[in-house]
Amino acid sequence: MPKSSLIAGTLFTVGAVTLGLFFAASPGKLSSPQDSSGQKSPPTGISETDNMNRTSDSKESRVALPPQRHDGPLSLEATLRGRRSQRSFTSEPLEMAELGQLAWAAQGVTGRQGQRTAPSGGGRYPLDLFVVASRVEGLAPGVYRYNPGEHRLERHARAPGGDRGRALAEAALGQRWVHEAQTVFVLTATYDRITSRYGERGRRYAVLEAGHAAQNLHLQAVALELGSVPVGAFDDQAVKRALGLADDEEPLYLLPVGAID
Ligand SMILES: Cc1cc2nc3c(=O)[nH]c(=O)nc-3n(C[C@H](O)[C@H](O)[C@H](O)COP(=O)(O)O)c2cc1C
Repeated sequence: MPKSSLIAGTLFTVGAVTLGLFFAASPGKLSSPQDSSGQKSPPTGISETDNMNRTSDSKESRVALPPQRHDGPLSLEATLRGRRSQRSFTSEPLEMAELGQLAWAAQGVTGRQGQRTAPSGGGRYPLDLFVVASRVEGLAPGVYRYNPGEHRLERHARAPGGDRGRALAEAALGQRWVHEAQTVFVLTATYDRITSRYGERGRRYAVLEAGHAAQNLHLQAVALELGSVPVGAFDDQAVKRALGLADDEEPLYLLPVGAID
């Protein structure tokens, strides 16, 4: 072996060992497939996540969504340029295909091992996407949970019945656009799914992930010529009550969406 290759090979090995030690020691590690109990876990966490995603399971409570599309007329650049917070919506109802497309943009499955449109720290998928439907063609008003693996909605049995738009707007300090929107998407985090691996830092990862998912949804709204606005000002407990969330389901973001002129 030429001397230069030997030196390069030695340097590579030393570098790899050093990096390995760094990741093993780093409290916020993302790349190690080892959990704190020392057990190997799947690289994407998909099987665990499927188990963790609670579903309201009876067949009657499931709502199939039209297949999502994977292309569109607007370029990414035009979509980025068009994003603006919209707080005024027309009364035109949303179509089921639009609703499904928005949910897919936020949390849809795109990878063979269950990876989604939005990245997730260590593939732990701590987020859930709720749909608070007020005016959607062919969908009874109410609260649903998006099931990413099946690309369908599941009625959220714990939620009070009927249109929850107004209760949600009250929880959001009376912001008018929350109940005037045809639908409000709500991103929640179940922190245990990620803090079980990363400790308290997992909370940060979950909040960062919500930003990714929300931006996907806003850009999809632009591409569908719909309006949307991110809403972070709300009373957590009031949102939990309005939607019948469990104690460990923390609302992070409300994303009202509607038709615009
Ligand atoms: C974390 C966060 C929380 C926000 N919360 C609210 C909110 O509660 N109500 C609202 O009307 N807009 C909210 N906004 C939207 C901002 O007001 C808006 O993004 C900003 O004025 C810039 O305008 P643009 O989105 O049109 O670019 C929020 C934005 C972010 C990023």
